[in-house]
Amino acid sequence: MFASVPGPIGLFDSGYGGLTIFDKIRKLLPTYDYVYLGDNARAPYGPRSFEVVYQFTRQAVAYLFEAGCQLVILACNTASAKALRTIQQKDLPRWDATRRVLGVIRPTVECVDRLSCSKHVGVLGTSGTISSRSYEIEIAKMFPCVRVTGEACPMWVPLVENNEYDSPGADYFVRKHIDRILSADPLIDTLILGCTHYPLLIPKIRQFLPAGVSLCAQGEYVAESLRDYLRRHPEMDRKLTQGGACRFLTTESAEKFSEAASIFLRTSIAVEHISLA
Ligand code: DGL
Repeated sequence: MFASVPGPIGLFDSGYGGLTIFDKIRKLLPTYDYVYLGDNARAPYGPRSFEVVYQFTRQAVAYLFEAGCQLVILACNTASAKALRTIQQKDLPRWDATRRVLGVIRPTVECVDRLSCSKHVGVLGTSGTISSRSYEIEIAKMFPCVRVTGEACPMWVPLVENNEYDSPGADYFVRKHIDRILSADPLIDTLILGCTHYPLLIPKIRQFLPAGVSLCAQGEYVAESLRDYLRRHPEMDRKLTQGGACRFLTTESAEKFSEAASIFLRTSIAVEHISLA
């Protein structure tokens, strides 16, 4: 269905959050070509149903495959929780069984055991990610002795998408969820940021974090996991072009994306507007 010539690595998120993953991946693997797609016009995905997140994510992956990507990373926990498995099992075999779609939850879960001494971890995420219980299920499979408590933080993505993550108004929403998850399990010593938007809130979260509780942002773990994957799969590595180029696509205004992305990436970028359907 799609032409099989070498191409870039695709990254997809509902909006800007996946840029925190892209940033770490590009630092670790700078020679590859990348296409980043943010579905900003339809963000946030967090409160949306399984079916809607699946349909939106499926459209985005099909677009990135059409653009020549051989490998797509769902740089979004909500899409990884609600759409990844169906795309891998149902769509990929029909589209092109040699292409791959990977998520961000598995690489994050793999590091949980070595990060937590108390073996009590908390996961902060969107309502969609938390209600899917994906982290609990994956952690239970890999590390059955680790106790997991999830906390949905529905206002955190809008704070980031609207550039309010550092404002005094953000304090209330950040403190509320930190207090809630730590009182649900006072033995938690590690909080996983299970949403790719949340790294921008790290300075704010730290203000309300007691000593002895550490934060785990996913970017570096996802980047390391991708490097390992490419080492283990030379047949995929050979299908990836390496010219160090990056394209940025958004379903919303290109100007708005470019402005916000410069905060995430600390540099200005050119952005193209596209439509998904
Ligand atoms: N950045 C996304 C995640 O990791 C989702 C945000 C949203 O659209 O709600 O879950």
